[in-house]
Amino acid sequence: MSDNAQKLYYPPESLAKNAAVPGMEAYQALVKQAETDYEGYWANHARKLLDWKKPFTKVLDESNAPFFKWFDDGELNVSYNCIDRQVNNGLGDKVAIIFEADDGQVTKVTYKDLLSRVSKMANALKSVGVAKGDRVVIYLPMSIEGIVAMQACARIGATHSVVFGGFSAQSLRDRIESSSAAALITSDGQFRGGKALPLKPIADEALAMGGCESIKKVLVVKRTGTEVNMTAGRDVWLNDILAEQPETCEPEWVGAEHPLFLLYTSGSTGKPKGVQHSSGGYLLHAMLTMQYTFDIKPDDVFWCTADIGWVTGHTYIAYGPLACGATQVVFEGVPTYPDAGRFWKMIQNHKVSVFYTAPTAIRSLIKAADANEAVHPDRYDMSSLRILGSVGEPINPAAWEWYYENIGGSRCPIVDTFWQTETGGHMITPLPGATPMVPGSCTLPFPGIQAAVVDETGLEQPWGQGGILVVKRPWPSMIRTVWGDPERFKTSYYPADFQGKYYLAGDGAIRDIDTGYFTITGRIDDVLNVSGHRMGTMEIESALVAHEKVAEAAVVGRPDDTTGEAIVAFVVLKGPRPSEADAPAVIKELSAWVAKEIGPIAKPKDIRFGENLPKTRSGKIMRRLLRQLAKGEEITQDTSTLENPAILDQLKG
Ligand code: WT7
Repeated sequence: MSDNAQKLYYPPESLAKNAAVPGMEAYQALVKQAETDYEGYWANHARKLLDWKKPFTKVLDESNAPFFKWFDDGELNVSYNCIDRQVNNGLGDKVAIIFEADDGQVTKVTYKDLLSRVSKMANALKSVGVAKGDRVVIYLPMSIEGIVAMQACARIGATHSVVFGGFSAQSLRDRIESSSAAALITSDGQFRGGKALPLKPIADEALAMGGCESIKKVLVVKRTGTEVNMTAGRDVWLNDILAEQPETCEPEWVGAEHPLFLLYTSGSTGKPKGVQHSSGGYLLHAMLTMQYTFDIKPDDVFWCTADIGWVTGHTYIAYGPLACGATQVVFEGVPTYPDAGRFWKMIQNHKVSVFYTAPTAIRSLIKAADANEAVHPDRYDMSSLRILGSVGEPINPAAWEWYYENIGGSRCPIVDTFWQTETGGHMITPLPGATPMVPGSCTLPFPGIQAAVVDETGLEQPWGQGGILVVKRPWPSMIRTVWGDPERFKTSYYPADFQGKYYLAGDGAIRDIDTGYFTITGRIDDVLNVSGHRMGTMEIESALVAHEKVAEAAVVGRPDDTTGEAIVAFVVLKGPRPSEADAPAVIKELSAWVAKEIGPIAKPKDIRFGENLPKTRSGKIMRRLLRQLAKGEEITQDTSTLENPAILDQLKG
């Protein structure tokens, strides 16, 4: 053991005993199985966990690498696997969804109800001309309808593309254009924190921008009751057409590789990319991770606090829990309304047993609990909890310990799940009945996932030495391509540096010298992670320079106690550098502009003005310097290669 050996937290024996993976020996046995017979390992799970209309005979097809195919000649339907088979297995009256609205109203939906709602929605989509292979953009709040819409697309073989309800008209437009979607499903508005916020008006704005001509129908859910404009011939109230639909709808059987969904995510350059996922391989991993990582059991009440606009809300709300026949909580609102005890109260009221949230939420609720005893988790009965999860960004050890003690009562394992939009499901994570935990480490690869830390040439690094995180073999739930841009898929994820052999995650990692545990050290590209939301610095820079006053902009991240990373923008205006008195007004204007261009989540926390940006003589912006300035660090490095060293003083902030 080295001197700084990590402190281990062990799973409670009672949990380990009955867990799907009951101990490290069981974990190692699975890893071994996957190593000795990789395809057999995945094929066995795929046969056991999924219901196939036509069984597959082929497992992994690498003939057109890196465009891998899994279970290619098999046929299934994702919605059938999530809903019909539960009803067929006698779970029709089991509650699938406990929906809690922003105002606290609770609606329960059984698997039988869900089947009829999804079937009606599927028929409604067909009635407006949506067919297998079409794309459907879903721009909805957290709602039963959101999940129903996703499942309905899956049922008829349409490919959905969910756009987070916090994204702007411009972002929505870009995603509609890129996917050339046939229909848009939205709502009049959404409730968040006691306020009614618009959605349909933003959708109208997006559709009016041009580039959205593919959209033939807009289906509108009534949620807030706010008055909205309905364009005749294009817009229809969903509530009206749903009423006329038959309650059954034969699922459309599709090939395992049929694109279930696109989900746009930020990369290091240019516009967000449409990550394309499959049907069979994706659903397999959604289910397997529900079983191994969350140890889901028939009596569990599962709650993932993500939004369906992100991949976490796809895999661990819309698909995984349903495919396992679980009961889950779905929440419309925000963690701080009516007060910061909302999550704890909901865990108490609904007897949540598996709780999955993001470090940002935990950190902000720690602050709130410190400031106000009334919203401290010790005021609530959370004895129903047995497993906790964390996702989206690294969890700092202090937040981990607070989560462990105050929420989990020091008896619930925390699964710190590392994964990405592109990976479809968990990649590196503890298993709750097996893995001894270390705060801040996502520990070991999920059984069957061959993760490694390598150097720039692809050479595996010894433990204790940081490097680049890669995955050495294709896995079933991986991204299939970047929609409409296969070249970008190859260069982003299978770069020539590794001879196209390894999947490049885009994160750095280090393995502990004693345990071999992985710790993620952060993105190695120009992607920021703010409150678990992924954003490209280039994307924010493009938004800033699109403003008439801005000549040039550079965006970097800075560590932040609550949001993980915060956005800092260095801006050169076309006019003179604003005086101290004038700066606040310009900052406000630019912030609002970014919110409008991308969405409020992309607003810089700090905007600084200079007459120029620090550049090398060849004109390259020195981002490393900007990152130091953003953190308020003294510049110690040699700045003699700088074209304009005096600029640094202006940008100190
Ligand atoms: C990026 C992916 C995973 C679904 C939600 C975010 C970071 C994610 C962890 C974790 C450290 C993490 C990585 C990754 N990340 N989970 N447990 N520990 N970092 O999906 O928007 O595609 O972002 O989030 O940097 O690359 P995403």
